Amino acid sequence: MKTIRDQNFQGKRVLLRCDFNAPLDENGNVIDDFRIQQSLPTITHLLEQGAKLFLISHLGSPKGKVQDSLSFNPIRKVLEKYLNQPVAEVSFKEAEKIEGSVALLENIRFNPGEEENDESFAKELASLGDAFVNDAFSASHRSHASIVSLPKFLPSYAGLLLEKEVLALEHFLKHPAHPFVAVVGGKKVEDKLSFVDAISNLADFVLIGNLLAQEIAKKGTVLKNPKKIVLPLDGYPGDGKELDIGPRTRTLFAEKIKDAKSVFWAGPLGLIEKKEYAAGSLEVAKAIIGSFAFSVAGGGNLSAFLGEYNLRDKFSYVSTGGGATLAFLAGKKLPGLEALGYYAD
Ligand code: 3PG
Repeated sequence: MKTIRDQNFQGKRVLLRCDFNAPLDENGNVIDDFRIQQSLPTITHLLEQGAKLFLISHLGSPKGKVQDSLSFNPIRKVLEKYLNQPVAEVSFKEAEKIEGSVALLENIRFNPGEEENDESFAKELASLGDAFVNDAFSASHRSHASIVSLPKFLPSYAGLLLEKEVLALEHFLKHPAHPFVAVVGGKKVEDKLSFVDAISNLADFVLIGNLLAQEIAKKGTVLKNPKKIVLPLDGYPGDGKELDIGPRTRTLFAEKIKDAKSVFWAGPLGLIEKKEYAAGSLEVAKAIIGSFAFSVAGGGNLSAFLGEYNLRDKFSYVSTGGGATLAFLAGKKLPGLEALGYYAD
């Protein structure tokens, strides 16, 4: 896999795929800019070399339609603050006319061609640049046009963040010290369900959040390693639902984590956006930190949560990826990495 360190981009137009899918509050402001900050080393490296950048990302799921609430205005402001220069937001059709060294293309998922992985859309996009850089490890589990088709039309490279994520997770994948405990919570349960078996082949225990447990029950899923699966014992109620793990589950999970030597955690265990449902995730975070295990946490919401409580640097590594990290650790081939030649090396 070639990385941007293998090439000089002086005078080149570079299409740079980032993941600026940051959590927003109800007023549309960025709650946590971790993913944007993590993209900065690649952006500045390329700018310092004298490249012209077209930044590409998605935000949310607008399903191929322009949706004002998912425009990049809040992301653009954060980028301008960190880069200390104006960043224009443009549709890809207008991008060529833009002056200056950085342009932010509008939310790529406003175009139906992105999620449909339409090659003619990718080709049109590719005509804007001389090279493509993928720094969106966290979106590399998606077979979308800006992830898998752009590399067909342009010389392509891994960005510094993508490289860093892969190196950190590879280490974790190849040499996990045991007991190895995985904690899988959060939303997007359909994505996660398919990884539980694979993760349970690696880990000694897989602790499951309420939503995922409900999905397992609803689908009648027969799990491969049931003895390793630890389901929640109770929920903490709110709005007639279970919005956090309950006290017995917190004790059970902390007990399993206590002696772990490696912990991987994807997805929070409650509705952490509301403080009253964050206690379960906080107890799990504290148990992981207290275990002194090699610890990896992943996912936009979980990372924002750890940031809010100043716990990020207490973990060995915080990945920008949620689903992508889980898929990578489950041994699935990520289409975005495959397109960069990672599995051919
Ligand atoms: C994420 O938030 O995990 C990535 O940005 C991918 O987003 P997606 O699940 O909407 O494809």
